[in-house]
Parts: sequence; structure tokens; C-alpha cells
Amino acid sequence: MTLHALCATSAIGEGQCKQFEIDDHKLFVVHYHGQFYAYRNRCPHLGIELQWQPDQFLDYDGELIQCSTHNALFVIEDGECVAGPCRGAALESLPLTVTKGELIVNLPPPATLR
Ligand code: FES
Repeated sequence: MTLHALCATSAIGEGQCKQFEIDDHKLFVVHYHGQFYAYRNRCPHLGIELQWQPDQFLDYDGELIQCSTHNALFVIEDGECVAGPCRGAALESLPLTVTKGELIVNLPPPATLR
């Protein structure tokens, strides 16, 4: 596992998302109810990216993560798919911490990517 600084917490407003690409890792962070969550940017349905526009990952109400391709819906706090073609599957959560106002993600080595 390797630690990577993503950005300042202030760079992602409440209810906003931000996507990142580090080496071969594509991921996104959601700021929701004061907490930050990081997921691999890979829908469990077809293994493709979720966003419908850059940095846009949430549904209309901003309460769930939504895949832009077939509209699967995922719980922001744990990535579980609660509706759509991959219901019961989950996004891959990535360990995220906040250190001195910076978001730090812990990524596995690229060789372990699926
Ligand atoms: S690719 Fe995401 S729901 Fe089909």
C-alpha cells in the first residue's frame, strides 16, 4: 500500500465529488455530511467509470452515487449498490484519512489492480 496526498479537504465542498488519476488508479472522493469517502472509479456492473460529467458522481438529490451508464445507485457511506443491474454488489472502498487538512489515500500497488 502506498500513501498519496490527493488535495486539501477545502478543495471538495460539502455535497461535491472530485475524481483523481494516480498512476493506473482511477478514483473519486465524495464529501458528504462532513465526511470524506474514496472509491475506485469502477462500476461493478461493467467495470467502467461512473461519472456523467467530470467530478459528477451523485444522483439528482445528492444522496446516492449514481452510475451514468445504467443508473445503478450506491450508498455514499459504504458503496453498496441498492438499485440497478449490480444490486447487492459494491464499489471498492479505498482507505482515506485526513492529515493536516489534506486528504490522503492508501492505494495498493498497480499490480494488484483487477
Ligand atoms: S455500467 Fe454502471 S450500471 Fe451498468
